[in-house]
Amino acid sequence: MSIQKVFIVGAGLMGSGIAQVCAQCGMRVLLYDVNRQAVERGLDKISWSLGKLIEKGKVTEDQRSVLSRIQIATDFGEAAGVDMAIEAVFEKLEIKQDVFRKLDAACDSKAILASNTSAIPITELAAVTGRPENVLGTHFFSPVPMMPAVEVVRGMLTSGQTLDTAVAFVRRIGKEPIRVQYDVPGFLLNRINLVSYVEAIRLLEKGVGTVEEIDRGVRLAFGRRMGPFETGDMVGLDVSYGALLAIYEESRDSRFYPPRLLRRKVKAGQLGRKTGSGWYAHDAEAGRKD
Ligand SMILES: NC(=O)c1ccc[n+]([C@@H]2O[C@H](COP(=O)([O-])OP(=O)(O)OC[C@H]3O[C@@H](n4cnc5c(N)ncnc54)[C@H](O)[C@@H]3O)[C@@H](O)[C@H]2O)c1
Repeated sequence: MSIQKVFIVGAGLMGSGIAQVCAQCGMRVLLYDVNRQAVERGLDKISWSLGKLIEKGKVTEDQRSVLSRIQIATDFGEAAGVDMAIEAVFEKLEIKQDVFRKLDAACDSKAILASNTSAIPITELAAVTGRPENVLGTHFFSPVPMMPAVEVVRGMLTSGQTLDTAVAFVRRIGKEPIRVQYDVPGFLLNRINLVSYVEAIRLLEKGVGTVEEIDRGVRLAFGRRMGPFETGDMVGLDVSYGALLAIYEESRDSRFYPPRLLRRKVKAGQLGRKTGSGWYAHDAEAGRKD
């Protein structure tokens, strides 16, 4: 089966990016969010990003014609004719399971149901559906239009055919599939990345380094484009916190226990770029303020 039509649940940072890359590659997209304003913000973000890519010559198609392939969905019922649904809602098991139940009821029995979860085991999402063999993880990285890697994650009951279809889908949208053979929470890449994020926060808590020094050092020493706090603000402190909790809950591995400072910032609503402050202060128009 080749994927032609996709239903995306959640129009936030990731869902809007996934909608964009699918539409850029000629697929028809239905974008759904419980929050209507989120869909509108998502569509604005897509227009802005497409504009930049066209300016740089990375997308050659006219902006309006790419956008015409993305439609706003107002109901799960509209997922009836799609080949694949991708869930990108908040990182909470109960919310995601509720979405999977609704997708399972709405989608054709052959359709693939995928999650963009950062850390929740795919098997726990597949378990609430009647088609666990058609459920898997497609874990994109932010910003989606720029980052080439997508983890393709096998749940305990995911079929080989579903994995092959998802790998072909990932290639078709111009990304590189990274196969994950077993759905340990955090999969491959977040497990590696989050350990260093936690360590950076712990070093900050102890006063060994500042946010700016740690980021600058990581950029210069390891050749990364962003330091851990810059990445943390882009990803969202709540998203990393949710991922750490999910990994810690299953593994009880103290390397993933969310540091106190991260927890406090999340409780205080300092979630990064999306709220205007996190590890840095941000300005919606001009980017970082300090
Ligand atoms: N932020 C990142 O860098 C990143 C990277 C990889 C994976 N992820 C994962 O992707 C998922 C989404 O993250 P995000 O950063 O886009 O979050 P976000 O907060 O930007 O967007 C989530 C969206 O989901 C919507 N939503 C919540 N419940 C819903 C429901 N029941 N039905 C429909 N829509 C609903 C919200 O209104 C919101 O617009 C999470 O599972 C996260 O762990 C995030």
